Order: sequence, then structure tokens, then C-alpha cells
Amino acid sequence: MKVLSVSSEVFPLIKTGGLADVSGALPITLKDFEVETKTLLPGYPAVMKVIRDPVVRLEFPDLLGERATVLEVEHEGLDLLVLDAPAYYDRPGGPYLDPLGKDYPDNWRRFAALSLAASEIAAGLLPGWRPDLVHTHDWQAALTSVYMRYYPTPELPSVLTIHNIAFQGQFGSDIFPGLRLPDHAFAVDGIEYYGTVGFLKGGLQTAHAVTTVSPTYADEILTPEFGMGLEGVIATRIDDLHGIVNGIDTDVWNPATDPVVHTHYGPTTLKNREENRRSIAEFFHLDNDDAPIFCVISRLTWQKGMDIVANVADQIVAMGGKLVVLGSGEAALEGALLASASRHPGRIGVSIGYNEPMSHLMQAGCDAIIIPSRFEPCGLTQLYGLRYGCVPIVARTGGLNDTVIDANHAALAAKVATGIQFSPVTETGMLQAIRRAMHFYADRKLWTQLQKQGMKSDVSWEKSAERYAALYSSLVSKGM
Ligand code: ADP
Ligand code: GLC
Repeated sequence: MKVLSVSSEVFPLIKTGGLADVSGALPITLKDFEVETKTLLPGYPAVMKVIRDPVVRLEFPDLLGERATVLEVEHEGLDLLVLDAPAYYDRPGGPYLDPLGKDYPDNWRRFAALSLAASEIAAGLLPGWRPDLVHTHDWQAALTSVYMRYYPTPELPSVLTIHNIAFQGQFGSDIFPGLRLPDHAFAVDGIEYYGTVGFLKGGLQTAHAVTTVSPTYADEILTPEFGMGLEGVIATRIDDLHGIVNGIDTDVWNPATDPVVHTHYGPTTLKNREENRRSIAEFFHLDNDDAPIFCVISRLTWQKGMDIVANVADQIVAMGGKLVVLGSGEAALEGALLASASRHPGRIGVSIGYNEPMSHLMQAGCDAIIIPSRFEPCGLTQLYGLRYGCVPIVARTGGLNDTVIDANHAALAAKVATGIQFSPVTETGMLQAIRRAMHFYADRKLWTQLQKQGMKSDVSWEKSAERYAALYSSLVSKGM
């Protein structure tokens, strides 16, 4: 089966979060299920810089007003279609934000162009290759199935994956003419959303199947608390809604071979983590003692519960723990975390910024990773934690709930516990979880058991890729 995947981020070329990890890893495992994927992504500077010997496959003289070219290139096992449109993507800054951290004002056009190009490829415009199905990710690609519906072409099935319903791509109705959709697309069963234009809303109305990245989150987005206004639309798609938990690339994330990890190890050589732990202490200027090192690797936002971390940091130290934080995000949270580090030299270390190698080393050297998200569609850092013997301490929500087995009495007795879950996501809830972790940590045998159980968890893509492949097949065989 041939699949066109459409994503605004793809690891290892461009990443701001878990979406990139997923769209970069899933196609590789899908090969085992006879799914051949080509991935369409924007030609940002970071992408154009690393691709080698691309071939021009398609030209758009006027893609929503700008010239664009589709380049095909193979990169680290991925078959990529790069949408080279300098007017849209050749800018300083990130994929979505300018260098000052503000949304580009024409994001609607930049990602509508991506989606329109995808729908043209779906219609068979790429010489010699027409997909059997289109898989779109998040609001940035969600207009693909909208264009597929309103630019009638032979009907092709489409799957939309929601990675985070908090990001919906909602814009004023004044942009509508610029999308070049027929007038009747601006309707409740199309992209109209309370008088505005909703990209994700349009995708939810037009994709043949909707998936999200964990079963618990699939249930949660049906409620007003988590659905963020789209719960009603999701409810109308309940028969086509699937929760498929993410996996991770177990080759990229392998403590036995990871090139940035100083000392490699596996479940039977956990002692080797000690050397990595020392490197972490050095990097963050921590005292080199036996107190557990809790870490956070995260976007610093309210969703991720980072205000809670900042507020309990003093108490973590008072309880005898150490804390290291790697992340970037809201200025107030960055400031609060940096302030806690300056109050507790040797006990708290904070590094502001994005540092992929350091994120690996922290998983390989810290004792536990704290993930206190208020909502978390799937979450990947707990999966990396499981794989690296860095015990996850997680809020009981979304994919965190589906992937970490809480060390309650029964789970410990059955030797199946892999981490700690807590709820509600409050300062008290989190401190209670840290207290439990300190207690377990004091019992080396118990702690090692938690680490080993975590390392035994199946966090690979195998089972989930099989589910995607089965979903694709069912849609293709239904003829929609
Ligand atoms: P989200 O996509 O919502 O941010 P995920 O847990 O799905 O959350 O994915 C986050 C990804 O980004 C993980 O691969 C994590 O290791 C990585 N990450 C987050 N912050 C940083 C950082 N400051 N430096 C390096 N990697 C980071
Ligand atoms: C989003 C979600 C995160 C998920 C990731 C990949 O960024 O916030 O929970 O793991 O997408 O699906």
C-alpha cells in the first residue's frame, strides 16, 4: 500500500516536539507491514540545508499565490517530498514562530499551501506515483482532506491524526478567500467554526478516519474539559475515532548504543548509569552525592504543568532531592525555574534552550523524570524514560495514563510497576508523588526493579504501526 503522509515537522530534519518524532519514526516501522510512505513536509532552511541530491518532481507556478516545487529525496530511511516554496518557508526563526517568538502572520497560507500541494499529489499529480491513502497530522496538514473533498478528484481515503487538540489553526473569516475553496466550504460541515475558519475543524469534518495518539486521550477529547471546544465535532465522528498510542524509534533511543551516552548500559548493567549521572551533575553544577536526581525535559508551558514544578522546586530540595530542568517556553516560567536554581546551587540546575543530545544524556543519567502535564495526548519523554531506566513520575492523564504502570501495592507485588502516577495535577499531588519516589529510591532493590520493569516495557512502534496498517487497509478496502 502507498501512503502520503503530510506533516509540518519530521525528525531528524526539523523538530519542535513529539510530532516530529512520530512522523519520522512511524513510516520506518510501517515498512514491515508493506506500507510504503512518502512524507510531504515544508522546505524550511533547516531541511534544505541537510537534504542531498534532491530530484525536482513537480512544479506549482501558483500555489495560493506563490511559486513552489516538490523535491523528492531519501534521507535516513525516509522517502521525503519537500515542498520548496521560499516565499513561505525560507525565513529565519522556527517552523511556526519568527525569531522574536511570534506566530508568522501568514501561517494560515503557509500551511494551507502545504495541504493544497498534498491534495494535488493525492489526486495523482506526481508523475508515476499515486497514493492509496493520505495520512495528515495536526492542523497544519488538516486542510488536505478539505481540499480533497472540495476539489473533486477520484475519492481517496484519508486519516487525520490529532497530536494536540489545543492547537487548532483557527483564523479570522477574512482569510477564507485566500484559501481558494468554493464558497460552500465555509459551512458547519466544512471549515466554518463559530464564524471563523478552523483548519483542524475542517479536517475533522472531512477525513474518513480520525485518530489520536492514545486511547485515554481519545476518551478525554469527547469531554468539554479536554475537547477545547471541538468535543461536539469529535462526538459526531465517534465511530471513526481511534486511539493509537505512539511508539518510539528504539534505534535512535537505545541506551546500549546511543552515541551521546558516555557509558552504555542495559537492564543487567544499570550500574553503568553512574558515569552518565556524574556527567549530568557536572553539566548542571550539582553536588555529586547519592540524592536522587529528578529531571524535567519539556516545553515550559502551562499544559506541561511547569508552573507546578517551579512552585514545588524548593520542597523537592527540602525533601532531599535534586532537580535538573532542560526546556524552553514561556518567559515567566523560564524565569521562575532559573530563580529556583539560583536559590539552590548544587541542588537545582536549569538549562534554558533546546538540546537534543543533552535530552538523551539526561534520560541516561538521571534517576527519574517528572511529567506533570495537565493534559498529554501521548507524551514521549516517559517512553524514553522507560527505555533508559529513568523512572517516570507522571500525571494520570492521556497517554501518560496508558503507558506507565503505577507502583501501587498490587503492581509492586506482581512486579509489573514501571513508574509513579499521580492525580490531581496539583502541587500537593506532585509532592506526594515525589515523596513516594524518595521512599522507593531509598530501597535500592525496589528502585532497580522499577527501572528493569520499565526497560522491559514494549515502547516500540511495532504494535501501533500494525494498528495503523490495519486501519489503512480497512479504509482502502471499503473504498473510502
Ligand atoms: P510535546 O510534543 O507536546 O512537546 P512530547 O513528549 O510528545 O511532547 O515530545 C517532546 C519531544 O521534544 C521529546 O522528544 C523531548 O525529548 C523533546 N524535547 C522537549 N524539550 C526539549 C529540549 N529543551 N531539548 C531537547 N529535547 C526536548
Ligand atoms: C503532541 C502532544 C504529545 C504527543 C506528540 C506526538 O505534541 O502534545 O503528547 O506525544 O504530539 O504525538
